[in-house]
Amino acid sequence: MCGIVAYLGPKSVDSVLLVGLTRLEYRGYDSAGIAVLDNGEITVRKEKGKIKDLEDLLLTHPVEGTIGIGHTRWATHGEPNRQNAHPHVDNHGKVAVVHNGIIENHHTIRQELIEKGHVFHSETDTEVIPHLFEDYYKKHKDSAKALQETIARLDGRYAFVVLVEQEPDRLYFARSGSPLVYGRGRGESFLASDVSAIVPAAKEHLHIDNDQWGWITKDSLELRSKTGEAVPFEMSRTQIDVKALDRAGYDHFMLKEIHEQPGIVRRIIQSRMDDEGIVRFPEMNLPNDFLNRVTRCMITSAGTSWHAGIVGKFYLEQFARLSTEVDISSEFRYRNPIADGETLVMAISQSGETADTLAGIHQAKAKFCRVLSFVNVTTSSIARESNAFIDLMAGPEIGVASTKAYTAQLMNLLFYALFTAGIKWLVSKEEREQILHEIRLLPEKMEQILARADEIKKWASELRDSKDFVFLGRSFNHPTALEGALKLKEIAYVHASGYAGGEFKHGPIALISDQMPVICIAPQCDLYEKMVSNIEEVRSRKGRIISIYTEGDTIVPSKSDYSFAIPQCADYLTPILTVLPLQLFAYYSALERGCEPDQPRNLAKSVTVE
Ligand code: F6R
Repeated sequence: MCGIVAYLGPKSVDSVLLVGLTRLEYRGYDSAGIAVLDNGEITVRKEKGKIKDLEDLLLTHPVEGTIGIGHTRWATHGEPNRQNAHPHVDNHGKVAVVHNGIIENHHTIRQELIEKGHVFHSETDTEVIPHLFEDYYKKHKDSAKALQETIARLDGRYAFVVLVEQEPDRLYFARSGSPLVYGRGRGESFLASDVSAIVPAAKEHLHIDNDQWGWITKDSLELRSKTGEAVPFEMSRTQIDVKALDRAGYDHFMLKEIHEQPGIVRRIIQSRMDDEGIVRFPEMNLPNDFLNRVTRCMITSAGTSWHAGIVGKFYLEQFARLSTEVDISSEFRYRNPIADGETLVMAISQSGETADTLAGIHQAKAKFCRVLSFVNVTTSSIARESNAFIDLMAGPEIGVASTKAYTAQLMNLLFYALFTAGIKWLVSKEEREQILHEIRLLPEKMEQILARADEIKKWASELRDSKDFVFLGRSFNHPTALEGALKLKEIAYVHASGYAGGEFKHGPIALISDQMPVICIAPQCDLYEKMVSNIEEVRSRKGRIISIYTEGDTIVPSKSDYSFAIPQCADYLTPILTVLPLQLFAYYSALERGCEPDQPRNLAKSVTVE
């Protein structure tokens, strides 16, 4: 959460920063700002609201310069307003800082600095950084020393960049916990929370590691360890396709990403399965003899990734016969789970930066467990801190609500379960061929569903006044119910709850009235009859039934007010199909209710704070 970007080079810095901030807006969008060295003086422009509001401010209050820093904020300390927006400056406006993370001991430092005469203007934790820097700079008259002493005082997670008025050709930075990448182009240098902010100009890049700090000039990087030694490094060629970062003609990233799903699933099938149907994970460097010894899996993840984890549990139990627990990261990290060297901890994360999931990985490693992560960003903290990772291969996901990463998670979890089943000799050749045949048909079935988006759009319009929704599903589709409800809540701001069908009569059924639409995920697979009973229970209490059912089934649609058929498929593949109409329903409901699907209120794409 919060995005930072910094630039030093020949171009007009304000436009470079604005482009970078727009690309990082998924990380936070409640206020934004830049600080530029304009005619030798640090000039700050910041505004409440989106990058567009900052852009408008810059039209009336322009800045000129070739070195500067920028920030887009997701508020943690202090409400989203202009005062709390970054950059923050020291007492004399000679040092400006943008920061992503949380400084946990900011109260103590602030108090100490106030006693020394420093005056603070915001409620943020960040503001202590430029003031501390100013204090140490006064003492050493040397920015590198001032930075090193500043870092030594900070507890918490951070990535920050410092612009110092006296140094027109350098930017200082430090990282501990929050992501930071250095990029180099032709005679220009960048720092950013994410490489997407600095492509295509940054031809090469380097992910700064934890506890590293240093400075950049327009064509060089000086990297230091915590103790101040120079750290050798090697840059990687930047290979992000800039086309993946725009909306490609769709009105919103979310819609584009929903429609990308069949192509992504096709790509995953092609790369995970060879011509003989053997499943492979070339990037996963865990030895087969260890995987053979694993007796238990523990999945830790958050939000949509947690829902994927629940489906993953079914896959691991059904195909690999591995006893599997799934826990929400923020619980897992504090619950001192019982685990040993034969437990495989699996962390699932689109961004690879979720703070709670990362903390769970540290917990697991402290118990000598190996950690395998499923990540969409293979250079992320979670990928780097795990023993091995699996690339989700969904491509950059920009819409704040996760869609394509979810189906990519399900596919990779399924393949992982089949891979494990393979090394444990648990499936016969015939069974494997049947499973792989079913999987190969999936992308086309997904396309058939998405081609009927208008049917879902109509539901969203007709149900636009409903204030509450219940989602019901069982077995593989219990997580689909949770995911459908989450999508609707987060982007259309409609109250929705997902339940396992069997749990419904243990309380939630009391909610049913003729005002309550109930979305029943009832494909013809295991527990189908039980779902039909759930539908009957809702009908007899006058609830409105909206159902997702399997083509050819006449029972479920005959009992429903609205219904949508998915093509026939194996039980374990149904969650990959049933979630699609629910994603579309959330998207069109958001539009119907005047909400902005790509930037839902109060949310940020990567949750890098606890
Ligand atoms: C929901 C959503 C969030 C994330 C959650 C975990 O649409 O996007 O619930 O799934 O914050 O994020 P990652 O997967 O990046 O760890």
